[in-house]
Amino acid sequence: MPQEEEIMAIKVSENGRLFTLQTKDSSYQMFADDKNVLLHLYYGEKIGEENLSGLIFCTDMGFAGNPEEAGPNRKYSLDTLPQEIPGSGVGDFRDDMIEIRHADGSFAADFRFDSYEILDHSYAIPGMPALYDTEEEKGETLVITMTEKASDIVLKLFYGVFENENVITRAARLENHGETAIELEKMLSFSMDLMYENYEMIYFSGRHAMERTAERIPVQHAKVEIGSTRGTSSHHYNPAVILCEEGAGETHGSCIGACLVYSGNFVAAAQKDQKNQTRFQMGIHPTNFCFHLEKGEAFDTPQAILSYSGTGLTKLSQQYHEIIREHICRGAYKHAKRPILINNWEATYFDFNEEKILKIAEQAQKLGIEMLVLDDGWFGKREDDNSGLGDWFVNEKKMNGSMAQLAEKIHKMGMKFGLWFEPEMVNKDSNLYREHPDWILSTPGRHISHGRNQYILDFSRAEVVDAIYGQMEKILEDAPISYIKWDMNRCMSEVYSHTASAADQGKVMHQYILGVYRLYEKLTGRFPEILFESCASGGSRFDPGLLYYAPQAWTSDDTDAVERCKIQYGTSLVYPVSSMGSHVSAVPNHQVLRNTSLKMRADVAYFGTFGYELNPNSLTEAEREAIKKQTAFMKEHRSLIQYGTFYRLQSPFAGNEMAWMVVSEDKKEAIVGWYRFLEPINIGYRSVRLQGLDPKLPYQISNMEMALYGDELMQAGLIVSDVASGQNPEQYNGENGDFQSRLYLLKAKEE
Ligand code: DGJ
Repeated sequence: MPQEEEIMAIKVSENGRLFTLQTKDSSYQMFADDKNVLLHLYYGEKIGEENLSGLIFCTDMGFAGNPEEAGPNRKYSLDTLPQEIPGSGVGDFRDDMIEIRHADGSFAADFRFDSYEILDHSYAIPGMPALYDTEEEKGETLVITMTEKASDIVLKLFYGVFENENVITRAARLENHGETAIELEKMLSFSMDLMYENYEMIYFSGRHAMERTAERIPVQHAKVEIGSTRGTSSHHYNPAVILCEEGAGETHGSCIGACLVYSGNFVAAAQKDQKNQTRFQMGIHPTNFCFHLEKGEAFDTPQAILSYSGTGLTKLSQQYHEIIREHICRGAYKHAKRPILINNWEATYFDFNEEKILKIAEQAQKLGIEMLVLDDGWFGKREDDNSGLGDWFVNEKKMNGSMAQLAEKIHKMGMKFGLWFEPEMVNKDSNLYREHPDWILSTPGRHISHGRNQYILDFSRAEVVDAIYGQMEKILEDAPISYIKWDMNRCMSEVYSHTASAADQGKVMHQYILGVYRLYEKLTGRFPEILFESCASGGSRFDPGLLYYAPQAWTSDDTDAVERCKIQYGTSLVYPVSSMGSHVSAVPNHQVLRNTSLKMRADVAYFGTFGYELNPNSLTEAEREAIKKQTAFMKEHRSLIQYGTFYRLQSPFAGNEMAWMVVSEDKKEAIVGWYRFLEPINIGYRSVRLQGLDPKLPYQISNMEMALYGDELMQAGLIVSDVASGQNPEQYNGENGDFQSRLYLLKAKEE
């Protein structure tokens, strides 16, 4: 078939009705049929550009209605066709993508193909983060315009293509060109009907302090659905899911990933229909959502990042790591080694003053730590979590002077200085609340729930965001601050804005998120050198939306090494090592009271941004010496760890051992992390098959008097067997026995 129009990845033929998006290894195809219904034809392994609509098997299914344009053809039904934009109220009884209530009270959305346009760059979404172009790689965009003839509503569909990462993005914009206002009651970012395969859905569930456990469930005729209505992307589910063929694993099987570049409510669902097609959808959760659109107004969805791998989950993860690192993360730290920091939270909680903080900094500096982060409690009246939020001025009595003075003292020690904020919250006991009680989200006439004794500022209002910005700007202008930890510690309830009209209350949860993004945009624009780390009681907002502003996120409030193996392992399915805040904390661990060796705590925390969360003045001399070695090790290897290619080798959910590794771009260096939770007795051989090495290169392995070729290490495996405990001649030394870890450094030998 001759190409009518194409710019590299986007091919259009058949009079502008057949669209094939091509990435390095995947293809995505749509076709506008003779009734202008936009059919979804294919998403999977790379294929050619022939029109696949002939594969659609149409039969006269009972109770599947037929649109008027189908005439006497009883085989043509919106209820059974594989569609790209399923409407509502007009004959497709599967889950819809868009629901509109019109001025006359009718519910209907029936979008048909109108035209298309191709752009040689990526598309942006007003007020929201999205993948952006770089000098090295530009995306391409297909914009398809659909119309709802009965109402003059226009729907623009955006398809972005990033060839190298096998990424296709989707987003949509709905414009009300009609004469009357409408209520948009649901609008997702994408929907697609996959014609074949028995899929399984991998999703990430969790809870506070135990986030992102990958779970897997077959997609059947009962709907598989996850989501958040908490106002954050949440600890409980992450806005990322993977549909994979039955039995797909790390290194085999086809998988389609989808993650939403958004930090608020979301839904993701998959369900088989009566013809065994799988409808796959994702977007803003319709609960508490209703967008009133006057004539001329528009609504934009957040962007969904789809990615395909035909060879398993590891490749899919690497594609996500790459696209997030290169086209989501921005700013001075995008490619920079992340500073090794010490955070005082678990060392002091609220019980600190200037003297204690300086002592921590002084000792930390001697250990090779590069930055001190002052956590919660430095501002307003904040001696515990009952008061002070909203008053972002330094408590000079507690800190013995201004922030500038403290920062200067820390700088003089040769360390950078970072600061904690929780900009979106306010305590009742604060000057801000006393002055502006109507600035919080609260429903008139109803009880106002508090969470951690705090209320939520109404960030859907520009004046509230601007006031918080003003307070933060003053602190940041006064003192040299290199890092901000932006925390958020409760879910949203009683969502009601005191300045929005009744008709606009259904917009508030989304506009709140836009307010968060606006404050981030203002701060990162005004202070581009500051490194932001996002946090929401640990990992309640670990999502691509926030990674656009803050390239790292506090992965979890649980700092125990064993739990962190699971949390970081699950997180790595989508998010890169450079985005995972990970610290060594004291033992017994404050969350689970477990004792693990200092070595294991570091060996886990290395696979992240790395830092400490303990009081260095309470350490023994031996521990201090060990930490000096740890910081030196991380300084030597952090580029490789944070920006190398990451492989999961053994899952902590599958057994007693876990292993992962990173490989340098030139494949000449690699680090393998191996972890064992409980010491077994008299067990057999243990080996781990490595990945990503050059099969033809010999690698010298640290702590082993041997070198092996890449193919041997990848096929026969790295031997991790050790002296069985039953005849172990060593005494327990804190680094053997339960909770063991080993790092293997591999270096290619010059031949
Ligand atoms: C929750 C965060 O996850 C912790 O690391 C710490 O910053 C506290 N908030 C402070 O209140």
